[in-house]
Amino acid sequence: MINPIFEKIAEQILSQSIAIKDDVLDSCVLDALAQEALTEYSQGEFKDAKIGKGIAKQRISEVRGDKVFWLNKVDASARLKTYWNWVEGLQDYLSEYFRIYLERTELHFAVYPIGAFYSPHVDQFRDQGNRVFSLILYLNKDWKPADGGQLRVYNDDGTFYDIQPIHGRVVCFRSDQILHEVLEANKPRISLTGWMRRDAFTL
Ligand code: OGA
Ligand code: MN
Repeated sequence: MINPIFEKIAEQILSQSIAIKDDVLDSCVLDALAQEALTEYSQGEFKDAKIGKGIAKQRISEVRGDKVFWLNKVDASARLKTYWNWVEGLQDYLSEYFRIYLERTELHFAVYPIGAFYSPHVDQFRDQGNRVFSLILYLNKDWKPADGGQLRVYNDDGTFYDIQPIHGRVVCFRSDQILHEVLEANKPRISLTGWMRRDAFTL
């Protein structure tokens, strides 16, 4: 059976390289995921996020100030598995739709403390190509424009538009095509971020 949400996401990616979809999960799942991120965060499980090659010489804090907690499906909570299964359904759908092999989706929670941002970047350098699609689920209840933390997406001509990181919103885009940044957050900002990849996991 065709999942109409997956179909909409695929069509938006095909036409504009990026898709935005709201309310893909029950609000009780969203609330539990936000709570889970905050619990791990308060227990000190989050680490400074890293940056890829090319910008490695810059001080990381000048590029991105978020903290991340990588997840694995085996140990995942029931709520997280619910989301992970949804993500894998989307992965299979996109794989077939775009006729591109996708091996797995990696996921991490990210928290942007007050004042944190992530400078303009693409998620995948073209010469490696392992990350194919980026997928972000926002977990910020009652988020207002004044809270900052918007995802700013640049068009090819340098113009841009902003996406609010509101509770239950999913954004999915081609990892090698979309130049984007996260504007400074004026309130702690939580997301569950992933990449659909072509390569297998190695230690
Ligand atoms: C990233 C990223 C955007 C967001 O983690 O690479 O760009 O809105 N995140 O959280
Ligand atoms: Mn990014």
